[in-house]
Amino acid sequence: MRHDAQGLVLSTASDAAAAAYDHLVNGYLKYRLDLPQRLKALLEADPEFGLAHCIQGYFTMLAYKQAVVPMAAKSEALARRFTEHATPRERAHVEALAAWIAGDLDRAVELWEHILAAHPRDVIAFRLAHFVNFWLGRPQDMLASVQRVMPAWSSADGKPFGSMLACYCFAQEEAGNLIAAEPAGRRAIEIDPGDLWAAHAVAHVLEMQGRRTEGLQWLAALAPNWEGGNNLQHHLWWHAALYKLEQGDTAAVLDLYDTRYRNQNSPLVIAQPDVYIDVQNAAAMLFRLERLGVDVGDRWGELADKAEGRIGDCLSGFTLPHWIMALTASGRTEAAERMIAGMREFGQGHGTMAPIVRDYAVPISEALVALKAGRATEAVALMRPALGGMYRLGGSHAQQDVLEQIFAEAALQSDSAEDLRLIVERVSGRRQLPPQRSIGWRKAAARANL
Ligand SMILES: [Fe+2]
Repeated sequence: MRHDAQGLVLSTASDAAAAAYDHLVNGYLKYRLDLPQRLKALLEADPEFGLAHCIQGYFTMLAYKQAVVPMAAKSEALARRFTEHATPRERAHVEALAAWIAGDLDRAVELWEHILAAHPRDVIAFRLAHFVNFWLGRPQDMLASVQRVMPAWSSADGKPFGSMLACYCFAQEEAGNLIAAEPAGRRAIEIDPGDLWAAHAVAHVLEMQGRRTEGLQWLAALAPNWEGGNNLQHHLWWHAALYKLEQGDTAAVLDLYDTRYRNQNSPLVIAQPDVYIDVQNAAAMLFRLERLGVDVGDRWGELADKAEGRIGDCLSGFTLPHWIMALTASGRTEAAERMIAGMREFGQGHGTMAPIVRDYAVPISEALVALKAGRATEAVALMRPALGGMYRLGGSHAQQDVLEQIFAEAALQSDSAEDLRLIVERVSGRRQLPPQRSIGWRKAAARANL
């Protein structure tokens, strides 16, 4: 038996494995790109360390990609075999991985929270619950989770405490408590300026309050610390582009697109060309730009190519409408229809995501197809029933905004004052910002007489 840096028992007899485990967990907390190497070192130090195999399965599932699920299942089998005599905590992790692989995200979160009730310093259980709750649109659960475990942490814990503060900040922000959120995120950056999640959480606060110049300064000052970070870097640059967009600098938005958040020549994008967060960043920005009449050139094409490769893969519900944006914008209606058929089929299955895809991803995607075909009234009718619950697809307020813009565009094109009023009131209430202060909402707000 060894202990990890948080004082939790590890079922390994290897000092090297215990050290490699801490290195891996720190890498996960800080969004490091070299996680695969850290994991490899851990498994080499102790090939029969069950929790390490379980974490390998978790990391595989974090791709939200159907094609790699069998790899996660292999990790689960090994983890199960090697945790036969491990601690209940480690065995519960294997059950959570199994639930995740089976698509039962509710059960996985339940198991992580169960672990946390006994071991509030289990950062893997905590961060996975935080993350999976986020992609299920459950900010109140994210907040309750972090509030339950925070008493077990203090500034004496150093950088991992910063990671906890970053999660606290983001959960508060997504729950709408911007005043409580910001100081926690800033404190996390004081502890570790290279904490991408803390940089991101504060960026969200600034976005929601329309503090664009401050937001750009915030990210520019922190960017030198991001070397060695993973794809979350792209998302931070996407946030910078979002501020630029609001300042009306669409040339800068496109420049950041090509150099920072969808740079197809970057080794990271070449190695992983269809990561869900990257696709969301790219498609959501191109959609916003086109609504403003900006020529985005041929940028949709490569996204549409990747979309065709992901037909039938519905693990990342929030990404689905983004794939459809790429397909419809590229005129690939038939492929879009095939992707929607795949969603309908997935929606008839079991698991946490099935009804979410059926009730929200499908109608939004159908609305995109109808809107592209010039059937705006139909698009409004298709999407209206999804408005109230589409937060369940996950994603932040800033990201959900693009779904609301789909509806606004359809309502504008169909000249439906009632629907414009509905969506503008909804958005302005949530953002704590007058709609006129957001470039994508000015026209809709004016037409809705708000
Ligand atoms: Fe974000």
